[in-house]
Amino acid sequence: MITYREAVREALREALDRDDRTFLMGEDVGAYGGCFGVSRGLLEEYGPNRIRDTPLSESAFVGAGIGAALGGMLAGDLTSDGTPSECRNLRRRLDNWGRIGRDLLLCRGNHDRPRVGADWQAGPRLAGTAHHDCWGAHFLPRQRLFSYDLDGLRVIGLDTTDLDGSGGRIDAEQMSRLRALLRDEPDQPTLIFGHHPVTRESATGNLGGPGFVLNRRDASIVHQLYGRSPGVFLHHSGHTHRNRRTRPDTPIPVEFLEVASIKEYPAGYSLLRLYEGGYMVTFQTTRTAAARRWSARTRTQLFGLQSRYSLGSLADRNHVVRRDLSGIERIPRSRKASHAARRFRHRVSPSAAQR
Ligand SMILES: [Fe+2]
Repeated sequence: MITYREAVREALREALDRDDRTFLMGEDVGAYGGCFGVSRGLLEEYGPNRIRDTPLSESAFVGAGIGAALGGMLAGDLTSDGTPSECRNLRRRLDNWGRIGRDLLLCRGNHDRPRVGADWQAGPRLAGTAHHDCWGAHFLPRQRLFSYDLDGLRVIGLDTTDLDGSGGRIDAEQMSRLRALLRDEPDQPTLIFGHHPVTRESATGNLGGPGFVLNRRDASIVHQLYGRSPGVFLHHSGHTHRNRRTRPDTPIPVEFLEVASIKEYPAGYSLLRLYEGGYMVTFQTTRTAAARRWSARTRTQLFGLQSRYSLGSLADRNHVVRRDLSGIERIPRSRKASHAARRFRHRVSPSAAQR
């Protein structure tokens, strides 16, 4: 038999053991040992980085807790022209925000693609072409996908960029890797993102036309793969600078979501909250005075139609989807060692020779 106090301490210890990103914060939880000694000994055991005393300010540490739980997905076009200096500076800036693969996941957009010319020669030459891939030197090589397992949630990022131009494609090798991943774990709750929208509704309804999104052949294969993978629930993309939910081309239970750009009106980001019984998407606008001024100014783009095109409907921006996501669960302690070893490994598509 153990006391309530011991049981709570054991639960805290279990959470701290399970995931080395977990930390405990609160008033007097450290040296004092917490209320009634609940956290006594944890400071010595886990150190001051993970057992943190906070000021008497509940709103501050609740906010800090929410911030610590957030992760970011950036759906491409993070540089203007994919130059060596842009890619280098981007990498440095993102490294200050957090660890790629844990706090941040990103894919390549058409602006980040390899280029030809003197301005890009400092970047590695792409085999068989005259292009230099500066993005690939700092992030992932061209047309490589990644797959992360975030405590049961699989996140797959695609490189949907063409070598030249703004349209979207998925090369055979990357498609083969996507097919294999989904075939191996068809039921694992899976979120997929890439720069280019996928659906026919996106193709016909965006300002750039059908050539601006994923080509129809690859989009059709993607629909087939998702249709055979019940775990895939959401595909999110950028590129069109607008908030829009579109219908799948075939009757599959997958949401296809385009998310507006943060660089212009409506200047925000979408927040995805996952629950056992589904998920919720809400659009958040940036709040600094400078960002709001710029957002207001860029609202007049597209001959004044920017707001109607990019903001989307209330339901495009904010919605709830009921879905069984109970497969997303904490990893049992017995699996901790192997899980930790593979958790944030950057799994990229192997070359054809490796498969
Ligand atoms: Fe783009």
